[in-house]
Amino acid sequence: MSGLHGLATQALRALDPEDAHRAAILGLKVGLGPVGDRDDPILATSLAGLPLSNAVGLAPGFDKDAEVFAPMLRAGFGFVECGTVTPKPQAGNPRPRLFRLSEDRAVINRMGFNNRGLEAFAGRLARRGPGVVGANIGANKDSEDRIGDYVTGLKRLWGLASYFTINVSSPNTPGLRALQTKAALDELLGRLAEARGVLPAAAGGPMFLKVAPDLEPGEVETIVGACLGYGVTGIMVSNTTVSRPALGSRFAGETGGLSGAPLKALSTRVLDEFAQIAAGRLVLVGVGGIGSGGDAYAKIRAGACAVQLYSALVFEGPDLVMRIKRDLAARLRADGFTAISEAVGAQ
Ligand code: FNR
Repeated sequence: MSGLHGLATQALRALDPEDAHRAAILGLKVGLGPVGDRDDPILATSLAGLPLSNAVGLAPGFDKDAEVFAPMLRAGFGFVECGTVTPKPQAGNPRPRLFRLSEDRAVINRMGFNNRGLEAFAGRLARRGPGVVGANIGANKDSEDRIGDYVTGLKRLWGLASYFTINVSSPNTPGLRALQTKAALDELLGRLAEARGVLPAAAGGPMFLKVAPDLEPGEVETIVGACLGYGVTGIMVSNTTVSRPALGSRFAGETGGLSGAPLKALSTRVLDEFAQIAAGRLVLVGVGGIGSGGDAYAKIRAGACAVQLYSALVFEGPDLVMRIKRDLAARLRADGFTAISEAVGAQ
């Protein structure tokens, strides 16, 4: 950790985690974020046809309201995924709902899709400059037609976001993860395919499904089959876990989704399963517990064409992305690769 941003990260860690997050967003909005170096060409790749100058993205949940994608791209992320956004603004669960598990390099959250709604989100995306910015779409907690909420999000953001992620894997909206079962996926992906069919194809972008790491036996096959059947481009593996690997922090018993270092092995194992079953037919993005170039490299070698991270930023600050990229580039070269794409799935 270096200089001003290191100090700022330490100061933020003295605050309540949600206040620290808000302060970080405000700091980024007024231009206090770092400015990344020019990317090493070995890190250039493509995410389902979208050109990336590097394969390290910011995971959704950090920029829920699409306020700071530009400063985060400037800080060196190769792409930023905003959201989760729901059609109507939503307050989320009561505070406290975000916990730092410092001893475990982990986070537990039960935010519950707090966000200012689709209109505000769309307005900000409409004014965006260059760079790959994805939109992560969800459903309101009190919605009578949750699948309809995803369709509404997709239609409103068509032409505004570079890609779309259908989030059926947050543990903090009761019943949401049931959308990962076969019958629900058929209806969800069927209605989304129908909606895409009447939207102008040239303005759109690829669509991903974001899955939980806590899947039952057979669910990976079901999800891969449904994605292939309904023209979904790829899968984000994974969201937070409701499981609790051995943890040392006093917040370990809090309800919510666990992310950060203790999620790494589980999410990489599930990614590997998706890679085996999809066998090159879907674009996979690896998310969960990445805190170093070595972690990012392991996801790529397990089959991810790009990666995302969030929790490690809480502990390391935004300079982390530059260190990860340097380390990843060195590892690729050391193993004789000349591009990220050559290392994808190279176990
Ligand atoms: C998240 N994550 C998340 N994911 C998502 O699809 N929509 C969301 O709104 C959120 N919100 C959110 C809030 C907070 C506070 C955290 C820590 C995480 C999950 C996130 O995108 C990612 O999938 C996991 O956190 C795993 O990656 P890391 O954090 O271990 O790098």
